[in-house]
Amino acid sequence: MPSIKAAIIGFGTVGEGVYKIVNEKRQQLKQHTGYSIEIASILVRDVNTKRAVAPSVLVTDSIDDILNDPEIDIIFEAIVDEEPAYTYLSQAIEKGIHIITANKKMFAKHGPALLKHAEFRDVQVGFEATTAGGIPIIRTIENLLAGDRVHRVQGILNGTSNFILTAMRDEGVTFEEALHHAQKKGFAEADPTDDISGSDAFYKLMVVSSLAFDEQPEWEEVSVVGIDHIQTDDVLEASKAELRYRHVAEIRIDDEGKLSGKVGPVLLDAEHPFYAIDGVDNAIIVETDYLGKLTLIGPGAGMYPTGSAMVADLVHIIRQLKPVPVLS
Ligand SMILES: NC(=O)c1ccc[n+]([C@@H]2O[C@H](COP(=O)([O-])OP(=O)(O)OC[C@H]3O[C@@H](n4cnc5c(N)ncnc54)[C@H](OP(=O)(O)O)[C@@H]3O)[C@@H](O)[C@H]2O)c1
Repeated sequence: MPSIKAAIIGFGTVGEGVYKIVNEKRQQLKQHTGYSIEIASILVRDVNTKRAVAPSVLVTDSIDDILNDPEIDIIFEAIVDEEPAYTYLSQAIEKGIHIITANKKMFAKHGPALLKHAEFRDVQVGFEATTAGGIPIIRTIENLLAGDRVHRVQGILNGTSNFILTAMRDEGVTFEEALHHAQKKGFAEADPTDDISGSDAFYKLMVVSSLAFDEQPEWEEVSVVGIDHIQTDDVLEASKAELRYRHVAEIRIDDEGKLSGKVGPVLLDAEHPFYAIDGVDNAIIVETDYLGKLTLIGPGAGMYPTGSAMVADLVHIIRQLKPVPVLS
């Protein structure tokens, strides 16, 4: 049976999730793709940390060990920040290696360049995990674009913010207490700045914008507001009036083709599909010319939801590699 050799860049929550799923679902992946998938190497910062990986896997702190291995077909990238992720993935594309990323901060800015470079080098790029974790929003929009036109996307794209707003309403706790609770449960990063300032939702919105509209608005023209100024009293008052605070990212295109986006807290009534979305879940509404409104709800983060989105990209890429039968 033919085999695919893959490397994982970053072995934190997401990278380890990919490793576990590929190993746990080895047989199923073989059946679905016709290939045996092997994780050959893993890049980390600290090689001395003990990792639960098979002895045959090379754990390294040198990207050259991966990029100079002629047998690597695919790289899963799950590190943080724009750099060195962008440089590593550019180098991988240059060498003809397919890439799959979860790194929304990097991809919001450099996704268009990476996609162009990949097209030129005839390699595939998977980025489902950059936006809304396990919700297959990227593939859904790609499918819709084949015969429809997207004109608006709205989303609860940051599970930490939604968890905090839910806890403030249900438990009457302060913003700080709710944030601490989210960190204890592992939902928020040790540095939660991007989550609570709205930046994380903004990056995801820009990834969606590039895909749905083939462009992004000027970043400085998008209003980005977080939830850190919201008081528990505001949330409880709203709740009495049967309204709920939700942190919503929205991008739309008008009839003249002008894009506009905004990210921030809004008050919604029970008629809105986002009213019922509590806790760490994400939700996205896609509006199109023919389909109307489509709402997707699901886990927006976490080891297995995000890992599974990356493995779904792997399966999609492998299927693209197979020769397409010619219909007569
Ligand atoms: N967590 C989620 O649920 C989630 C969901 C969707 C998308 N994402 C995105 O996925 C990416 C990874 O998130 P995570 O939560 O898995 O992060 P994490 O738990 O902090 O893990 C990061 C991993 O990357 C490694 N790393 C960081 N910088 C590196 C560098 N310069 N060179 C080599 N290795 C490096 C770290 O190595 P050491 O172990 O040696 O420190 C660690 O293994 C981020 O871009 C994040 O935005 C996360």
